[in-house]
Amino acid sequence: MAAEEAASGAPEGAGAQETLSNLLHEGRRFAPPAALAEAANVRADAYQASAADRLGFWAEQARRLHWDREWDQVLDWSGAPFARWFVGGRLNVAYNCVDRHVESGHGDQVALHFEGEPGDRRSVTYAELQREVCRAANALTELGVRAGDRVAIYMPMIPEAVVAMLACARIGAPHSVVFAAFSPGALRSRIDDAQAKVLITADGYHRRGSVVALKPNADEAVQAEGGAQSIEHVLVVRRSGQEVPWTTGRDVWWHEVTERQPDQHKAESFDSEHPLFILYTSGTTGKPKGILHTTGGYLTQVSYTHSAVFDLKPDSDVFWCTADIGWVTGHSYIVYGPLSNRATEVLYEGTPDTPNQGRFWENVDRYGVTILYTAPTAIRTFMKWGTEVPARYDLSSLRVLGSVGEPINPEAWMWYRENIGRGRCPIVDTWWQTETGGIMISPLPGVTSTKPGSAMRPLPGISAEVVDVDGNPVPNGAGGLLVLDQPWPSMLRGIWGDEERYRQTYWARFADQGYYFAGDGAKKDEDGDIWLLGRVDDIMLVSGHNISTTEVESALVSHPAVAEAAVVGAVDETTGQRIVAFVILRGGNEEVATLAEELKAHVAREIGPIAKPRQIQVVPELPKTRSGKIMRRLLKDVAEDRALGDTTTLTDASVMELISSKLPHATD
Ligand code: WT7
Repeated sequence: MAAEEAASGAPEGAGAQETLSNLLHEGRRFAPPAALAEAANVRADAYQASAADRLGFWAEQARRLHWDREWDQVLDWSGAPFARWFVGGRLNVAYNCVDRHVESGHGDQVALHFEGEPGDRRSVTYAELQREVCRAANALTELGVRAGDRVAIYMPMIPEAVVAMLACARIGAPHSVVFAAFSPGALRSRIDDAQAKVLITADGYHRRGSVVALKPNADEAVQAEGGAQSIEHVLVVRRSGQEVPWTTGRDVWWHEVTERQPDQHKAESFDSEHPLFILYTSGTTGKPKGILHTTGGYLTQVSYTHSAVFDLKPDSDVFWCTADIGWVTGHSYIVYGPLSNRATEVLYEGTPDTPNQGRFWENVDRYGVTILYTAPTAIRTFMKWGTEVPARYDLSSLRVLGSVGEPINPEAWMWYRENIGRGRCPIVDTWWQTETGGIMISPLPGVTSTKPGSAMRPLPGISAEVVDVDGNPVPNGAGGLLVLDQPWPSMLRGIWGDEERYRQTYWARFADQGYYFAGDGAKKDEDGDIWLLGRVDDIMLVSGHNISTTEVESALVSHPAVAEAAVVGAVDETTGQRIVAFVILRGGNEEVATLAEELKAHVAREIGPIAKPRQIQVVPELPKTRSGKIMRRLLKDVAEDRALGDTTTLTDASVMELISSKLPHATD
């Protein structure tokens, strides 16, 4: 939209349709490096092949795995929105992720380079992983866990967490991983909902230079009075070595029970639709949803996408996904995707700034990481710390960079490309969700000419659309709602124990068309490439214009003084909503009196006067969930001068005290 058009008031039709205008313009393009393109795992023809025969394409990808029995039918969608993929097929996930690599002669290859936060290190080969997974599978069986029983995992980022997940998969016991920094209450409600029989935890772990106790939290969640009743045993890994409270009969040391087990275990095959795991998403409101994923389709898609999107070469790459196993990113791109592809990967326990702000780059250098997969929130933090930090390290091993979790602002993308990738590495901005199980929209590093800030196209075999409120596809150059119009192999199979909520949450909005509604706003640019614009709930309505928080944030971050920005719409008597911005400055920048005016003018130039924030506050930190997403809801409370809502999911509740009441008055 031209600036003059926006300034002259509502253009014809604006506001009549709930669609987004194509505000921010981005002309930069980056072609794949020639050497990478030449040797890429996936070529451009994959798009045509999959479009011509989508189910045939997925059957071909499923054949990358070992099946004990081949499927009779690729997809049964007759029970929509409940899909069944690779119907009648049987396989074992742990066998696919571990044993088959040992059998093919790669037992000595390192699967995991574990880096503890205090600097303790341990490398686990595929042969060692196989023995540990077998012992753990035998131990769980001894403790009475049978196929179909649920196991809760509440663990730090240590190799035993990966072993525990694989052991569950091996015996067909769906796991429910709960992020270790979640409270006892959050753990309890998840255990209760899934009726988990065993809880696997640790004594404690290392975080920001200190030892954090974990076992007392686990105890609080399962204690007899008012606690989770379904738990029969608590299995405790020794990590921190601290004293732990102990309930005899219920509690079992992991090392004691696993050491006495045989290191062999026969992997039984399970039905393609056997439940693999439940993972709770907190959502913005209401009780957490237990997202259910199953076996064959899930493993097929995470394995294929990991190979395609990161161009993984098992003999030479070192892959590092910096997520926690408590999130779906950890499930799909630390555990199941990489291990099914025989990757060598880094598993890091700690934070990026312990003991110093160069820890990530030190890890890249030490292990020769070739593929790095991280989140925009981390990248913007690195921007804030300044370019001199990564500049001190040898990052020449890197060849592909990935991003996930939020829209990545074009300037953060450029910063990542220049300062981490040193201008050589393609960036894959991957859009997906806990619910989608695997990556859905992303460039292919050897094929796609990328644009900073765009996730580009649905992957081969995946279909997505941007539609208006009536479900009609929007033309190129227009915005709307992102939907998935075809089922995909790693799609969720429902919400644990709540069929109706599954239908309502994802399938009710476009029931007529049978589309899955992702909850995200998106636009298609003039070439038809997709730009994610954030959650639909975050989109603002200013004087009849739909304006995405993401676009205004990206405009702010494109100013040289700004590292990170969060934008919210606050109720306004005249304009409906007014735009309020919170910004963090880049390393070396001071707040000056003229800054707010300068930033307003900058946004007006980048997008148009309509998108100009009315209020801007410089803040030291932004409120974020533990998975790194900005909690705009709390900033909105500040902007609308209300008492703060629920802050329990914040990483650090004290940031709100720093932000609270210092907002300048609204000006034009
Ligand atoms: C939501 C899903 C996917 C694993 C981590 C988050 C946002 C995710 C992107 C991206 C723009 C993104 C969306 C999505 N999101 N990746 N590349 N560009 N937005 O999983 O917690 O289930 O969150 O994260 O809003 O709906 P999740």
